[in-house]
Amino acid sequence: MDISQKRRKLLKVIVLGDSGVGKTSLMNRYVYQKFSQQYKATIGADFVTKELQIDDKLVTLQIWDTAGQERFQSLGAAFYRGADCCVVVYDVNIARTFETLNNWHDEFIKQADPTDPEAFPFILLGNKVDIDGGSSRMVSEKKARDWCAARGNIPYFETSAKEDYNVDEAFFCVAKTSLVND
Ligand code: GTP
Ligand code: MG
Repeated sequence: MDISQKRRKLLKVIVLGDSGVGKTSLMNRYVYQKFSQQYKATIGADFVTKELQIDDKLVTLQIWDTAGQERFQSLGAAFYRGADCCVVVYDVNIARTFETLNNWHDEFIKQADPTDPEAFPFILLGNKVDIDGGSSRMVSEKKARDWCAARGNIPYFETSAKEDYNVDEAFFCVAKTSLVND
């Protein structure tokens, strides 16, 4: 293997969370710099890729978008296995999407079955912080940070796919965090 090969990394990232929280929108913002107001439910799962440079490594993020709607979820354990990072998204304006985080987290661990579940890289995103300038917010930043602290200091970002707030920063952290176990 030559040097350039050694410096290339393919990272598999799975994005989970309730329907409508903005998983697809965050990915479209990050990869295509696009945003649409229109909601179109994701069916099954599909991935997009994005290359970025981190230190001396050329990293390809393979980001898997999944369906939040239960009737469109058809992913088995084989799908989750080999993941390098799991991004969980909720909507800061809808408490229920925060309350289901434990389910998404635990289900991922169960399906992906990583060798060291405690050390597996998760990232939490609180999306749609733009709505009503934050006045319709139902989940405080503190509550979200407490959830992250209780699960071994998961990195947390507040984002807006619509306003392009913190999206690059969040996915950069995804790449960095995924490389930790490298
Ligand atoms: P499923 O595919 O059903 O799991 O939903 P999803 O999580 O992929 O949600 P999606 O990205 O399709 O977004 C749902 C709706 O929320 C769409 O109408 C988006 O335009 C809107 N939306 C997504 N992100 C934001 C955001 O940051 N701010 C605002 N105001 N709206 C957003
Ligand atoms: Mg979607």
